[in-house]
Amino acid sequence: MSDLSIKEQIDQLTDELNYHSHIYYQENRTEISDYEFDMRLKQLEALEQAHPELKREDSPSTRVGGTITKEFETVTHKYRMLSLGNTYSKEELEDFDKRVAKGLGTDKYEYLCELKFDGLAMSFTYEAGILKQAVTRGDGVKGDNITSNAKTIRTLPLKLNSKTPFPDQFEVRGEVFMPLPVFQALNEEREVQGEARLANPRNTASGTMKMQDSAIVAARKLDCHLYAMYGEDLGVGSHEQALDNMKKWGFNVSPTYRKCRTISEVLQYIEDWETKRLELPLETDGIVIKVNDFGQQEELGFTAKNPRWAISYKYKAENAATKLLDITYQVGRTGAITPVAELQPVLLAGTTVKRASLHNANEIERLDLHEADTVFVEKGGEIIPKVTGVDIHARSQDAKKISYITHCPECGTELIRQESEAVHYCPNFRTCEPQVLGRIEHFISRNAMAIETLGPRTIKGFLTQGLIEDFSGLYALTFNQLNGLVFEEEDKKTGEIKKRSVKEKTAQNILASIEKSKEVPFRTLLFALGIRFVGKTVAEKLVDHFLSIDALMSAGFEEIVGVHEIGERIAQSVVEYFDEPENIALINRLREAGLHFTQEEKVAPTDTTLEGLTLVVSGVFESVSRDELKTLITAHGGKVGSSLSGKTDYLVAGDNMGPAKKDKAEKLGIKMLSENEFLHLIGHTHD
Ligand code: IVH
Repeated sequence: MSDLSIKEQIDQLTDELNYHSHIYYQENRTEISDYEFDMRLKQLEALEQAHPELKREDSPSTRVGGTITKEFETVTHKYRMLSLGNTYSKEELEDFDKRVAKGLGTDKYEYLCELKFDGLAMSFTYEAGILKQAVTRGDGVKGDNITSNAKTIRTLPLKLNSKTPFPDQFEVRGEVFMPLPVFQALNEEREVQGEARLANPRNTASGTMKMQDSAIVAARKLDCHLYAMYGEDLGVGSHEQALDNMKKWGFNVSPTYRKCRTISEVLQYIEDWETKRLELPLETDGIVIKVNDFGQQEELGFTAKNPRWAISYKYKAENAATKLLDITYQVGRTGAITPVAELQPVLLAGTTVKRASLHNANEIERLDLHEADTVFVEKGGEIIPKVTGVDIHARSQDAKKISYITHCPECGTELIRQESEAVHYCPNFRTCEPQVLGRIEHFISRNAMAIETLGPRTIKGFLTQGLIEDFSGLYALTFNQLNGLVFEEEDKKTGEIKKRSVKEKTAQNILASIEKSKEVPFRTLLFALGIRFVGKTVAEKLVDHFLSIDALMSAGFEEIVGVHEIGERIAQSVVEYFDEPENIALINRLREAGLHFTQEEKVAPTDTTLEGLTLVVSGVFESVSRDELKTLITAHGGKVGSSLSGKTDYLVAGDNMGPAKKDKAEKLGIKMLSENEFLHLIGHTHD
């Protein structure tokens, strides 16, 4: 390759990588290993950095983002982005069919049925086969130019596959969405970080597309199904042919569409997809019926708002009406309050629902919830059902409006709520029981100190018997205290009080695992402390910057907020944590017990092969230990992730890795590396 000019090298790499990316994402096959792909991408990035003027617009390096847009430019759509008339009734669909037949003066027409994807509509302009502009629907006339964000969508071609000729200039339209496994992983991660869960994938996708930093957009792994094409000379006569071409050019057209010759075939399509759609990895809320022939579409034309040649049929979401019995308020380990609707049990999508999430006070206000209301519950992208509405006709006149609690249901302390936040907090972190218990549970959890011989019940026993007051107390426990210790436990079903005693062997195991936890590195310990908003990633960033707890404690707000990717909310929370003398005393007790409060084994990266990449290690390995592998990752500039999430780039998979992990990696589109591939990647080969 070195015989080629720089430009030729860049061109060749760009084309090659775009080709491999296309077959990987669109055709689910590979011709080169992930490792080879990444090596070539790195090569391309290096060349582009040295010769930015030669970087092509369709460069695959744009996929990783990195552009910051302060304000999106407003763009007028060349073709208005209309919406569709919609209906929930099959009779109305038959009326639609009659109007079509009448309008065309014939019964010789066909429909093309598609699923209605639930995301945000966008328009993409291609010129000479290159993606030039991506614009949101906006008000249908004008939208936001969010091209740099759209380019991070892996399945959206930056350059079209040219085997099938394409018009010189045209637009495609489609729905950008967040795949359900990505959404669920994102919410799990937020939960760990003490952040509120996101309500649904649609709003998350739409919020993500408007973010200023395209690198964050890239990490969110959005996807896009294309369903329309606009232009002067498209060279096709029907929607079906348009979809066919779009597929050939490399667009992600959902294979779920079907041509129907009669309205009863349409009704069959509706029935076929009613439940099958729930197995798809994205949310759909109905189907779209379009007259297939473009000439006939033109003949039918438009009303003021909608095309006369298309309509959408919406499935009634699986919902059920039931009575609101009560609202309970859960207190999390950070003091965050979550209201939960306690419901009269009702059958919904095959399971009995007794409780539903209400998110926060704003949500209760939005629903205008009253006592004993009849509410509708629905299952969406979230596993826990949610209350979506109220049947106001079923409300009795004297029903009292729900007023949000002002005091903690557990300890009675007055709740606080920061102006910019939706969530209420109980500030009594010292003695509010679920907070005290929750903090210890978090501390011992697998992701934190991994003291797996202890569980919530044992911890509760320690607390009630006064053996510990907080997690530092664990390190002062003795064999004599534990051996023969008797717990009283309530049987949840019968309410019966049972006695359980700690055997000698269990006592030894508990002490051994507590002792072992002292070896946990500082970054994990900082996470284990449970400082609000300090999740695993944030803890790593803080430790990499400050290296010791003393440095972090004496840093002010300004210094903390200056750390890359640490925002004001996190910085504020860290400062407040260390302002509390009790927290300092707690840390000192842990320090005396011998825990690590400095980053000792910090390995200065020897090179940057893995810079910007997060790798998760799982299973057992032949030539290196797991810890060595982790050290190698950091030594080459990479980050070691603790669990698979939307932010993971690679899973280094050893032997005996569980099938669940493999499934999750596949669902999230995370590439897997074998031990050898990994060692090869960093240049540690044995041959
Ligand atoms: S066709 C003239 N096809 O539904 C309108 N729309 O109310 C052409 N949508 O804004 C739209 N899936 O966001 C079309 N297969 C599909 C769709 C779809 C979802 C959304 C789109 C549009 C809205 C129409």
